[in-house]
Amino acid sequence: MQRTQWWPVALGHELKKAPLACQVHDLPLVLFRSDDGRAAALPDRCPHRFAPLSQGRVRDGQIECPYHGWRFAADGRCTRVPGTDQAPSSTALLDSLACCEAHGLVWVCLNAPGALATPVAPAGQGQALDTFWMTDQVQCSLQDAAENFLDGFHTHFVHAGWIRHDLQRQRITVRVRPLKDGIEAIYSEEGKQSGLISRMFEGQRGRSMGRFRLPGLAEIEYRDGNDHLNLLVSAWMTPCAAGQLRVFARVATARGKVPAVLKRAVLRQMFKVILRQDRQILEQVSANRQRFHSHPVAPLDGPQDLLGPGIRQLLEQGQPLAFEERTFNISL
Ligand code: FES
Ligand SMILES: [Fe+2]
Repeated sequence: MQRTQWWPVALGHELKKAPLACQVHDLPLVLFRSDDGRAAALPDRCPHRFAPLSQGRVRDGQIECPYHGWRFAADGRCTRVPGTDQAPSSTALLDSLACCEAHGLVWVCLNAPGALATPVAPAGQGQALDTFWMTDQVQCSLQDAAENFLDGFHTHFVHAGWIRHDLQRQRITVRVRPLKDGIEAIYSEEGKQSGLISRMFEGQRGRSMGRFRLPGLAEIEYRDGNDHLNLLVSAWMTPCAAGQLRVFARVATARGKVPAVLKRAVLRQMFKVILRQDRQILEQVSANRQRFHSHPVAPLDGPQDLLGPGIRQLLEQGQPLAFEERTFNISL
């Protein structure tokens, strides 16, 4: 399933004239733009002597190896072998990957995309939004990161004061329901959260949603009492090298009176703190699991783990979840 899905590997605006190295599911890739501006992805190895093509340069929309200058087109054909009269080859020497651009990201697919697979889009389509991007790399699994992102119950401790306080909890109702490619929690009757971010950025909240969608999108969406979007954070996560996760987070706010640059300046600083706090606990969890690698045990789910078990099942089985919508009362 993973191999026929689209995975984001770079921000679209990051991929300019120079080639870009990235990695997806342990496969090192070079990204570049061909002559028509389209993004292309090849394995990051020259078939001649294994030099990393990402260290080369792009000439006429083709990637040129830094070692002996062989050139490769987006489809993997070798088009030039300097110093010889060798004609361009008609067969590919490198297996090019399906590559496209959508939602501000460059995506690749390891095998031909599955029949229905398209890059998974963020919510809030068709609304006037101010957006900016934040990226990160974390030593953890996709499952741990997705659960962390959507789990409200760590915020009182890991982000104490920033998002919520342990001593100022509120009773709220949560509905958890399956989506055709994921799982969603809908929180209602939650007033403002007790932390700094909520006090600064929100009016009275109506409802908020946390959702996970395959293969790796976690989203948090806050809406006001009139069901207008206040804040939407969409985090696409791509497993790259062993145990490493690349995170592409798009922060979107409703376009309004406050200028986008101002919102971005303040929100970026706050999210930097939040991301650092999450990265720290996630990397502690990964390292600690590693200490116990010869004594493995399954994680113990608690009653407040609203989405984690569903996310685990989705990632392990790649199938829609089959359960009836459930309602919980919690103190968040
Ligand atoms: S290693 Fe790339 S051209 Fe020789
Ligand atoms: Fe967090």
